[in-house]
Amino acid sequence: MTSDHTKILEEIKAADDRLHAKFGEKLRVNYDLDRTLVSFQANKTKNGHRWYKYKEGFSSDLVRYVIRRFALDSGRILDPFAGCGAALFTASELGVDSVGIELLPSSAEIIEVRQILRMAEASQMAERIRRFRESLIWQRPGESKNFPHIRITRGAFPLQTEVELGRYLYEVERVNEESLRRILFFATLCILEDVSYTRKDGQYLRWDYRSGRRVGKKPFHKGTIKSFTPAICAKLDQIAGDIYGDQLRFADLFGEQRSGEVQLLKGSCLDILPTLENESFDGIITSPPYCNRYDYTRTYALELAMMGIGEEEIRALRQAMLSCTVENREKADLGKKTDLVRLSNSTKAFESQELLGLILKYLDLCRNEGLLNNNGIPRMVRNYFKELTVVIFECARLLKPGARFVMVNDNVRYQGIHIPVDLILSEIAQRAGFDTQVIWALPIGKGNSSQQMRIHGREELRKCVYVWSRQKETNHAAKSETC
Ligand SMILES: C[S@@+](CC[C@H](N)C(=O)[O-])C[C@H]1O[C@@H](n2cnc3c(N)ncnc32)[C@H](O)[C@@H]1O
Repeated sequence: MTSDHTKILEEIKAADDRLHAKFGEKLRVNYDLDRTLVSFQANKTKNGHRWYKYKEGFSSDLVRYVIRRFALDSGRILDPFAGCGAALFTASELGVDSVGIELLPSSAEIIEVRQILRMAEASQMAERIRRFRESLIWQRPGESKNFPHIRITRGAFPLQTEVELGRYLYEVERVNEESLRRILFFATLCILEDVSYTRKDGQYLRWDYRSGRRVGKKPFHKGTIKSFTPAICAKLDQIAGDIYGDQLRFADLFGEQRSGEVQLLKGSCLDILPTLENESFDGIITSPPYCNRYDYTRTYALELAMMGIGEEEIRALRQAMLSCTVENREKADLGKKTDLVRLSNSTKAFESQELLGLILKYLDLCRNEGLLNNNGIPRMVRNYFKELTVVIFECARLLKPGARFVMVNDNVRYQGIHIPVDLILSEIAQRAGFDTQVIWALPIGKGNSSQQMRIHGREELRKCVYVWSRQKETNHAAKSETC
């Protein structure tokens, strides 16, 4: 290690201590929260929320906890990274209206179909789903639709599955009524991983050795690979059962209670947030992608391919996503729709965050000396924070005074440095017009990749839920000048 390294590392340590001193008393372990609640796990038994296993999702119970704890039980909430809609549909169950923004087409489709199912006359729709399922029409001889593979999905299914899937997709396309057709297609999205040789593993799709693909040093066995027909039948039964059951349950429990409206805006929140009205939301509950190299466009390749989205479109999508992979380039048009003064304030808040500046300087130094395992890491970390800063400044404008912004996010580690995403973003949020009310850390943090641990030793990384509240007095455009 050179003296340059030692010097920056000392500066990082001092800045990190200052930031911890500033937010120390806001940082609390919350024993009500655990990994099950803050991840998709707790959705596995929840009607509707369990249909599509979105590994990056948080649970409906977490959203309930937040809504109740902060009495967000009226008005309208926003989720700018809506995923499969856990925040939106839970809010709806509690009678709260919501708006979600989502860029990934497969997730957006899931939200839209959940919305169709929510609005449908349940017993009739359940009956139509059951009729299609009982017909087993895709098992009779007939024409087939070729699965529109892209390069990274070829060979993803056992032969028999690909045959049945092709027949099923062909029959679904022939269903006249659009809502039923989309529900039947959605059911396939829900089982694609289970019937394939692949498993979603963060940065990429992991391939079972039975696929015949070359699969790294250690053969990977994903366990049971379900057959297509039993899997699709079980999913259709689950969907029909859940919507019918919900109708009975809600009628019993709540009588005529109003469910909240759900609105989805498809596209990048970086483009859409600036188009929404000042002070039009009572709360934000969200979880952006983490700064952890996770590539949604690769992990969801099967779903995207099945929707007919080609390689080029997927590449464009990857660049439009919030930067969280080493392939993300700087977005030349970042903030193009944001008010110029706000954009300039957001840039200043990003550039003047002391610890972040030092961490980026250190990562740049390590890259220049060839020490990083990927040279795209400094750019990813820089752009991740730069883009999230723009999002946070826009969100400050959209919230009513006193309204809460609740974010779930993980801290990360690169080149041995623990990046306190929670504290850095909380300081940036302060510049945007938020007070940090509390940063809840989960009781047990999370490690990092085995490779990082071998080199840098194990240190728990915080997984947190941050609660910021919008300051009562905020001059939307000029805020950061005064902090
Ligand atoms: C951690 S997931 C959110 C999961 C969600 N809370 C749920 O429970 O379903 C982050 C989501 O942000 C989406 N996303 C990434 N970049 C985006 C952007 N620029 N605009 C809108 N959504 C984006 C991803 O597609 C992903 O679905």
